[in-house]
Amino acid sequence: MSLDPPPVNVERVVNELEQLAAISDCPEPPPAVTRVVFTETDLRARAFLRGLYEQAGLTVRVDPIGNTFARWEGSEPVLPAVGSGSHTDAIPHSGIYDGTVGVLGALEAIRVLKQAGCRPRRSIEVVMFTSEEPTRFGMGCTGSRLMSGAITPDALADMRDSDGDTYDTVRQQAGFSGSLADVALPGDYYHAFVELHIEQGPELEAASLDIGVVTAIAAPAAFEFAIIGEGGHAGAVLMPSRRDALNAAAEMTLAIERLAKESRSPDLVATVGRLDVHPGAVNSIPSRVAFSLDIRDIDGQNRDAVAAEIQEALAAIADRRGVQLESRELNADPPAQAADSLIAAAESAVAVLGLKHQRMISRAYHDSLFMARIAPTGMIFIPCRGGVSHRPDEFSTPEQISAGVQTLALTLAQLAE
Ligand code: GLV
Ligand code: MN
Ligand code: MN
Ligand code: MN
Repeated sequence: MSLDPPPVNVERVVNELEQLAAISDCPEPPPAVTRVVFTETDLRARAFLRGLYEQAGLTVRVDPIGNTFARWEGSEPVLPAVGSGSHTDAIPHSGIYDGTVGVLGALEAIRVLKQAGCRPRRSIEVVMFTSEEPTRFGMGCTGSRLMSGAITPDALADMRDSDGDTYDTVRQQAGFSGSLADVALPGDYYHAFVELHIEQGPELEAASLDIGVVTAIAAPAAFEFAIIGEGGHAGAVLMPSRRDALNAAAEMTLAIERLAKESRSPDLVATVGRLDVHPGAVNSIPSRVAFSLDIRDIDGQNRDAVAAEIQEALAAIADRRGVQLESRELNADPPAQAADSLIAAAESAVAVLGLKHQRMISRAYHDSLFMARIAPTGMIFIPCRGGVSHRPDEFSTPEQISAGVQTLALTLAQLAE
């Protein structure tokens, strides 16, 4: 396919990214963004995207969980399609670019291919996955998990948010109906899937590179812990007789940090990002604490071994402090490998465009982690300033976004040829 370079209208993409960023529940203005799945804000963002898809002449289909497919029909529409996309939900107080670049970038890639007169054999679809982020239900990638069969409809339907509402109730209240059993895609639905995303790490910028071609995605796991101690009056209960759940939690989070640092794998990372203290009053001894654990590694076995060590260490701390500990595994997923065919397609696009790239792993997870189970899958990374992500100061330049969209467009054109 000769199209060098595809005429990406990056001002248009940046403008759309900014319009999307304005659809936010964050108390601060953009670039701070909060957009949680199945909220009214999420629905407004979806409506905004639908308008763009329709303007571009794409056919929109929404599945029962809200995964949205915008299709550019190929000349042989019975052939398995080529998919590209990411997510538009945003964790609390995050930035403009995480996920959104992969959705609006895929739309722009289709627009420029159309404009350049490309006529692919295979259909090309922009996919917007529901709830890549774990904010509401504790588990990320629910849309792609269900699409790929990585979770059963029943297990998904029963998950609860912090108000105690089930996934199924909340998605139906948001207007998504139909059977969750219909979300899974057959293994031959996609000929290939490719996701454009900001790197969310510092490597590309540090090496002055334009593009990262992802070879593998690290294996994520998530746990929930609850500590039950004994509450009481902050003035009246003397120190020797306390069973303070928060002090137990503090010791536990430090044990988690120590075990992660001591791991044989430099890629092992562990984070306690949420901690809820009950009753949360100045003059009351914390009686209950709930906290999350996010733990990942390229090496799934090492991740599991460290997670087991953490469980043991936490149980010992609970024992010594006379508090009760409950733990629940939310997910423990294996790593994913990018398909050689996708790496080759992205690298040939990069070569045509004269861009500088490296192969790399993705430490963050993405919907591609699950798409890799049902389609040859790959990812294209662009640099982001300082490697910063999940923060309002997350930033990629228009030039970096443009290079990513050009690479994506040429990659899609090859795959759909
Ligand atoms: C993505 O947001 C991740 O947590 O890796
Ligand atoms: Mn994210
Ligand atoms: Mn993301
Ligand atoms: Mn994410």
